[in-house]
Parts: sequence; C-alpha cells; structure tokens
Amino acid sequence: MNRSLRKRLSLWLSAAIVVMGAATAVVTFRLNFEDANELQDTQLQQVAAALATQAATAPAATFRPKDREDAETHFVIRALGSGNVNPDQWLDVFLPVTLHEGLQSLQPADVQWRVMVARNAGGQWFGVAQRQRVRDEAARDSAVTALVPTLVLVPLLLLIVHLLLRQGFAPLAALTRELDEGDGHRLRPLPTAGVPAEALPLVLALNGLLARLSGVLEQQRRMVADAAHELRTPVAAARVQADNLGHVELPSDARERLESLQRGLARISDLVEQLLKFARVQGADPVDEPIALEAVIRSAIEETLALAESRRIDLGCIRLDRAQVRGDRHHAHALIRNAIDNAVRYTPDGGWVDVSLVVEDDVAIVAVEDTGPGIPEDVRERVFEPFFRILGSQQSGNGLGLAIVRSAASALGGEVALAGRLDGRPGLRFVYRQKLA
Ligand SMILES: Nc1ncnc2c1ncn2[C@@H]1O[C@H](COP(=O)(O)OP(=O)(O)OP(=O)(O)O)[C@@H](O)[C@H]1O
Ligand SMILES: [Mg+2]
Repeated sequence: MNRSLRKRLSLWLSAAIVVMGAATAVVTFRLNFEDANELQDTQLQQVAAALATQAATAPAATFRPKDREDAETHFVIRALGSGNVNPDQWLDVFLPVTLHEGLQSLQPADVQWRVMVARNAGGQWFGVAQRQRVRDEAARDSAVTALVPTLVLVPLLLLIVHLLLRQGFAPLAALTRELDEGDGHRLRPLPTAGVPAEALPLVLALNGLLARLSGVLEQQRRMVADAAHELRTPVAAARVQADNLGHVELPSDARERLESLQRGLARISDLVEQLLKFARVQGADPVDEPIALEAVIRSAIEETLALAESRRIDLGCIRLDRAQVRGDRHHAHALIRNAIDNAVRYTPDGGWVDVSLVVEDDVAIVAVEDTGPGIPEDVRERVFEPFFRILGSQQSGNGLGLAIVRSAASALGGEVALAGRLDGRPGLRFVYRQKLA
C-alpha cells in the first residue's frame, strides 16, 4: 500500500501539536492554580499582619453582606476561642485556641477553611479565615484564564501545518496533474519552475525519460510514415497494371482472379493511405491556424455523399452553427471525415446519418448520429485502438479510422466520445468537443 507522505506528515505533526498542547495545558493549569493559592495565602498573611498592629480583635460589626455569595467571599476574622459564632458553618467558623501560629487548614465540619493565626499588639491570638472552596474557585478561574493562549494556539497551529503542507506539496500535485492530463502522443517535458529542490532530480529524470520516449515514438511514427510512403508508388503501379490487364481479353476464371486481385490491391492502397493519415495526425509539430468547423463539415459531407447515395442513406446536416477553432485544418478534416465515413459505412441501406455543429458556452460540439448497429459500451474505448475492429460487420476496413480520430482530437486539443443515440433508438452518437478560438 502506498501511503501518502503528506497525510503521514500531517498526522504526525498534528498528533505532536495536540500532545504538546495538552501537556502545556495541564502544566499551565497546575502551575497557575498553585500560584493563585499561594497568592491568596500571602493576602491572608498581609491581612493578619495589618490586624496584628491593633490592640484587640473583634468581628467587624458594620459588615452587612449583600447576599450569600458576598458573605462567602469575605474573610472571617475572630479571636481564637471566641464565642457567638453564626450557626451557619459555611458563613462563620469557630477558631479553637489549639491552632498554632501561621498558616494552616481547618475543617471543623463540612466546610474547609484556610486560617492564618497571629497575635495582636494586645497579646491576643486571632485568626483570619477564608473558605477553601472560594479560594479554589478563584484559583481555578485564574488557571483557566491562563489556558486561553494554549487553547487558541493549538487549532491555529493545526491550521498552519495543514496549509503549509498543502502549499509545500502543491507543486508535486501540479506535476502529477500535468502527467495525468498528457495524452501519450504529446510528451511535453514537465515544468521545473517552482519545483522544490528535493523533487527536482526526480522531475529532471522524468523529463529525460519523457524525451527518450518521445524520441522512440517519433521514430516509430516516421517508420510507419516512411513505410507507407514507400509502398504508395509500387501499390499504385500494381493497380495500374491490374487495371491494364482488365482491358485484355481473358478467360472467365482468369478474370475472376484478376478482380479478386484488384480488390486486394484496392484494400492495400486504402490501408497505405490510412497509415499515412495516421502518421500525419501523430506528427510532432501540428500547424496552428484558424479553422471554420462548419466548412470542414460541409466538405466532409460532400466527399461522403456519393457513398451515402449509393446505399440510399439520408446523409444530412440538421444544424450548422458557425464555429471557429484553432489547430491543423487537415486534422479537423481527418477527424470529421472518418466519423461521417464510419456512420455511413456501418448504417444499413436506407438508414439515416445526421450531422450537427452546435456552439454551446464557447465550445463547438460536432455530433454525428446514425441508425446503424451502434457500438457496445464495453468496447467503446477499444475501438479507438489501431487495427481494432468489431467482428461481424459486413464492411471492410483497416481499423484505423477511430485511431486517426483520437490522435487528431488530441492534436487539436479537443475530446471525442461515443454514446448511444439521444432518442434511445439503436445507433451511434459520435461527439467531438473543442473550445472555440
Ligand atoms: N458508426 C458506427 N457504427 C457502428 N460501428 C462502428 C461505427 N464506427 C465505428 N464502428 C466500429 O468500430 C470499428 C473501428 O472503427 P474504425 O473507423 O477505427 O475502423 P474501420 O472503420 O474498421 O476501418 P477504417 O480504418 O477504414 O476506418 C469498426 O470496425 C466498427 O466495427
Ligand atoms: Mg472507419
């Protein structure tokens, strides 16, 4: 299983941030809690020190708490062993004479107190007491407040890590997209600008490989083109010779064989022409010129009209918008011609072939619909492979037409697709899309 480096880094960094954040939060909370408690002890000591300068200690008679909460937050100051304590043990506390000097905790019943015991100027022992729960609440509040920076920082750090990783890996994702979108015919080198230094050797090695591959493909294409070109003349000469032989008086069985030879030679000639066209549409540097698609369609229909009429096929154009695209005119012609040629050839006598050119959202859409047998969905991709033919058809062919169509489409920067007819009846719908110039 190939695991994503980015996901792994993201996971580990996020885990580290969360663990560190949690540890920082725990430590911060504890330290602040203890600090706040110490601070409150210091306050108790200061109050006791201030009171120790007085000659006698008596509860402040003027203190009237607003409510219970107000009462709770106040210190209770009492001489040790003094009576008349408020019966509500939460509000008041009896300080026994057994308390020692200094800070200590005291829990006479349910309520726990923190008491600072001192002696005043009159020699009387007294205590300043504070409810432990009130102290804890205050300490907790201050500790929680100290957690805020950590709580804000952790999600912020997680976001920053996520964004940085995404940005860091973006050039690699862009390179992958570039490689994915390449169509195998045009092996452009990958751009090296903006590629991180760590990935540069890999990209350079890939570019070297692409260059070598492109060289091999070009060599292959040239070999096919040269072979087809070399064959063209002798095949044409052989056809002329066979035709000449046809004018000579021949016994009937010899004439039959001659006709079979002529058909064979015509097929070879056809194959040579298709191979030449195939090599041409795969050429490395296609021309870039404005193309009026409607004119290309018109001429392709005109060229196929004779064949359509001989088979009583109604070949026509149902809509022809004006659409100008860019590319090599010959490629556009080869593409549309092969699509119409297939539609006419595979449609039974008396059928229909409708061609249309529609412009929609800056895209030219060429559609060729026929009333033939259609192409089963599971081979709609394979028919684009060179020499692939569906068995059972009465028509002869080389299996190169749709391979030429696909190469031409990729050279033009368009897309081809095969589908069923829009009205759901048997037949094929060939669609070619290209952005307008
Ligand atoms: N409109 C169509 N309707 C039905 N089948 C089709 C249609 N177009 C193509 N096919 C099928 O796809 C196969 C491949 O088509 P392609 O044009 O590549 O080759 P071909 O027509 O056999 O030969 P050629 O090289 O002469 O065009 C054909 O053999 C045919 O079986
Ligand atoms: Mg064909």
